[in-house]
Amino acid sequence: MAKKKLNIGIIGGGFMGRTHSNAFRQAPEFFALDYQPVLKTVCTRSAEGAAKFAANWGFESSESDWRKVIERKDIDLIDIATPNDTHETIAVAAAQAGKMVMCEKPLGRNAAEAERMVAAVEAAKVPNMVWYNYRRVPAVTLAKKLIDEGRLGKIFHYRAKFLQDWTISADVPQGGTGTWRLDASVAGSGVTGDLLAHCIDTALWLNGGIETVTGATETFVKQRKHATTGQVADVKIDDASMFLSRFKNGSLGMFEATRYARGHKALYTLEINGEKASIFWDLHDLHRLQWFDHGDEGRLRGWRSIHITDGDHPYMSHWWVPGLQIGYEHTFVHQAADFIEGLSKGQAAAPTFRDALATEYVTDAVLKSAASKQWEVVKG
Ligand SMILES: NC(=O)c1ccc[n+]([C@@H]2O[C@H](COP(=O)([O-])OP(=O)(O)OC[C@H]3O[C@@H](n4cnc5c(N)ncnc54)[C@H](O)[C@@H]3O)[C@@H](O)[C@H]2O)c1
Repeated sequence: MAKKKLNIGIIGGGFMGRTHSNAFRQAPEFFALDYQPVLKTVCTRSAEGAAKFAANWGFESSESDWRKVIERKDIDLIDIATPNDTHETIAVAAAQAGKMVMCEKPLGRNAAEAERMVAAVEAAKVPNMVWYNYRRVPAVTLAKKLIDEGRLGKIFHYRAKFLQDWTISADVPQGGTGTWRLDASVAGSGVTGDLLAHCIDTALWLNGGIETVTGATETFVKQRKHATTGQVADVKIDDASMFLSRFKNGSLGMFEATRYARGHKALYTLEINGEKASIFWDLHDLHRLQWFDHGDEGRLRGWRSIHITDGDHPYMSHWWVPGLQIGYEHTFVHQAADFIEGLSKGQAAAPTFRDALATEYVTDAVLKSAASKQWEVVKG
C-alpha cells in the first residue's frame, strides 16, 4: 500500500536545518512508518543559500520568505530551525494556517513567547513538538526506563552541566550569522536558554517538576563588536549560568552551563543518585550509561559501563548489529520517527510545545533569581 505523504517545509538551513533534513531522510529507511516524509521546500535568509541547501539535501524547491512556505497548500508540516527571535512569529503563523509545527529549542526567547506559541498550536489543534533531542539518545532513554521502573528508588540528587569554550576570546562578535547566540535581542538569553535549557528539559523528563531555584549568572566579556552594525555594544547575554533547585519529588538539583570552560566543546553530563542506584551519562561518550547498583553482591559492587548498542536497548534494534554504536545525528532521526509514529497513532510525541513551556518557566525563574539574588518559585 502506498504510504501517505508528509510534506515538509523546513525554515532554516544552518546547523539544525542539516540535522533535521538528515533526520527526515533517514527516518523512513530505518523505522517502519506509515508516512513518507517529503522534503518539499527549505527556506533560509538568502535565496542563493536556500537553493544550494535544497540541491544538496534533495528538497524539491527553495524559498527565502518563510511566509510563502506557510501559504503553500502542498505543505503539511512547518519545521522551524531558525534563530530564537523568529520562533514565535513563524510558529503562530504556521499553526493559524493549520500546519503541523515542529520547533527548535528553546521554544521562545522567554516564557511569555512560549505561552503564546502553546496557545496557538492548542487553539489550532495541530500536532507539535520541540526538538529537545537529548531525550532520544538511547542511553538517556534507557535511564528514563530504569527510573520509571523504580530501580533507583527515592531520588536524592540530580546534577547536570553543559560546558563549552568557544566565546572566551573578546574578538568573537555578537549578532550576525553564527554568532546570533551572543545577541540577547535574538537569542533571548545566553547559556541559560541555549545550553541549560537542554539540561532542564532532560531533568524534568527524568526527575519530574522543579519547584524553586536559586541562580547566578555572569557576563565575562562586557562589550563586543556587533557583527552586522560594527558598533561596540554592551553584551546582554549570560556567558555562564548556574543554579540550585528543589524538585517536587524532594530531590536537590545542581546545574551549570558556560561557554568559558577552556578545553570543553560540548560536555553535557548528568548524574542521578537514588536510594538504590545511581546513573551517570556523558555526551562525549553518548553510547554508554554508567550504572551503580547497590543491590549487587558487595564483593563485586561497582560502577558498570553499559555499552548501549544491543537490540534490547531503546531504538537500537533499528540500527546495526549489537556492539556497533550510533551518534548525535541519530537522536534527531529518532525524534522525527517518533513524531511520525505519533501521527499514525493519534498520540502526541513528547516534548510537545506545552511540555517545553515547563523548561521556559525554569529558565525564566533562574534569570529572575540571578537578578534578585533570592530563591524564586517556578511557574506551572
Ligand atoms: N537541538 C539542539 O541540540 C540544537 C543545537 C543547535 C541549535 N539549536 C537551535 O536551533 C535553532 C537554529 O540554530 P542553528 O544553530 O541551526 O542556527 P544557524 O545560525 O546555523 O542557522 C540559522 C538558519 O536560519 C536561517 N534564518 C535566519 N533567519 C531567518 C528568517 N527570518 N527566515 C528564514 N530563514 C532564516 C539562516 O539563513 C540559517 O540558515 C536555534 O533556535 C537554536 O537554539 C538546537
